[in-house]
Amino acid sequence: MNVTNTSNDKPSAEAGAAQESREVANPWDIEPPSPELLETPIEFLFVEHNRQRQAANILHLVADGELNKAGVKKLIDFLETDFAVHVADEELCFFPLLLQHCPPEDNIDKLIERLADEHKKDEATVTGMTVVLGEVLAGKKLNEKAVRTIRGFAEHILQHLALENAVLLPIARARLDENALRALSEMMKERRL
Ligand SMILES: [Fe+2]
Ligand SMILES: [Fe+2]
Repeated sequence: MNVTNTSNDKPSAEAGAAQESREVANPWDIEPPSPELLETPIEFLFVEHNRQRQAANILHLVADGELNKAGVKKLIDFLETDFAVHVADEELCFFPLLLQHCPPEDNIDKLIERLADEHKKDEATVTGMTVVLGEVLAGKKLNEKAVRTIRGFAEHILQHLALENAVLLPIARARLDENALRALSEMMKERRL
């Protein structure tokens, strides 16, 4: 694995790049975002998506038969806490603000309907996933079905965040004004008190 050459990467949001470089440094780690990032809530959501990408990478490592106990424990904790909190941020704050601020031609309601449907499926999958990961920690060997389920979940996470990054976040950057962003920031901070 190339652990040093990131110089040719295209520049992106600085926070995302920093998160990315940490990912390369330790593939089993999911570092928390800095709390100040909540002042810029869309960037916070973007960084959470980078953390979900790290989680998906760890799921693939586990499916490959690799094991780092601290990493798997961190992954379980991430899925049970920050991943769930992120879904609540989107469903209870972000999506309603977008529905309020986007004109009909954005067709945001259809996109949000699809994303919310995927969240429901994720919620159902996470419980079974943490059970399987707990068994991996206890030394159980994964059977083929479990490997397929883990890989499927990892791919689903990646596809979902790619859609949100490519379509939802750019719309939000264009449509949410200062007041909406302030409200989003406050709601996300309250959820973390
Ligand atoms: Fe989402
Ligand atoms: Fe998201």
